[in-house]
Amino acid sequence: MSHLQTSPTAAPAIAASAIRIENLCRHYRMGVTLIRAVDGVSLAVRPGEFIALLGASGSGKSSVLNLLAGLDRPTAGSVIVQGRDLAQLSREELAHYRLHTVGMVFQSFNLIPSMTVAENVELPLRFAEVDRSERDGMTGAALARVGLQSRMNHRPSELSGGEQQRVALARALINRPQLLLADEPTGNLDSRTGTEIMNMVREFNLQLGMTVVMVTHERALAERYAERLIHLADGKLVSDETNVLAVPTQPLSTASEGSRP
Ligand SMILES: Nc1ncnc2c1ncn2[C@@H]1O[C@H](COP(=O)(O)OP(=O)(O)O)[C@@H](O)[C@H]1O
Ligand SMILES: [Mg+2]
Repeated sequence: MSHLQTSPTAAPAIAASAIRIENLCRHYRMGVTLIRAVDGVSLAVRPGEFIALLGASGSGKSSVLNLLAGLDRPTAGSVIVQGRDLAQLSREELAHYRLHTVGMVFQSFNLIPSMTVAENVELPLRFAEVDRSERDGMTGAALARVGLQSRMNHRPSELSGGEQQRVALARALINRPQLLLADEPTGNLDSRTGTEIMNMVREFNLQLGMTVVMVTHERALAERYAERLIHLADGKLVSDETNVLAVPTQPLSTASEGSRP
């Protein structure tokens, strides 16, 4: 399968934005101080686009990501994902959104230590009340995608950092989300392992047509993988650049070296 023609959401000339953020604000009140973590950000992301949110520590990157994930609510402004305004969703709809529309990965992997690899990956399927008879197959397929089928009965603590992040990716993707949100996904990994993870994310972006928003403070990483670089400073969007240098895709032999069964 060619990587270059797989985005199912490409094509229509007036395609709706995957994400539309309008005058988004998230202010925190700390005693008498008002922290403007996100301060009037507007942004539209096309379906299948891979964007990087860059900026110094404290610039508001994670706050934006959490608002996109529906984990937090804006002080003002709106977040519209796939045409739905998150503020208009009921609790149940928001729970459904978090479970089905978005997948999330974090710097610290956030796996449940007492569960096996397979149980961690399967968890969103249980929340989604997917039939037991289907869960094993889906879990196996997700683990195969990240090359970790042979480790399914291990605990996270028995895996390397890179392997743990691959498990987290499998878990994030198991409900086939249209949107992958990644907060410093390589922050705890050495550069070689980080590259392996990023190649996988880019592969999923291209092969599954998944929109990716990655938070990072590493400009080089963003330049290598993201098609668009958005810079935040003090909660404000300060630049929005198209990056023509983003890898179209990595040859599978490189991307999967040592990571496929
Ligand atoms: N729950 C919170 N309560 C108060 N202040 C917060 C909270 N979360 C983040 N902040 C503040 O908002 C600003 C942006 O934080 P964050 O979005 O985590 O930045 P980044 O991810 O770019 O490092 C920082 O000044 C941070 O201290
Ligand atoms: Mg952060």
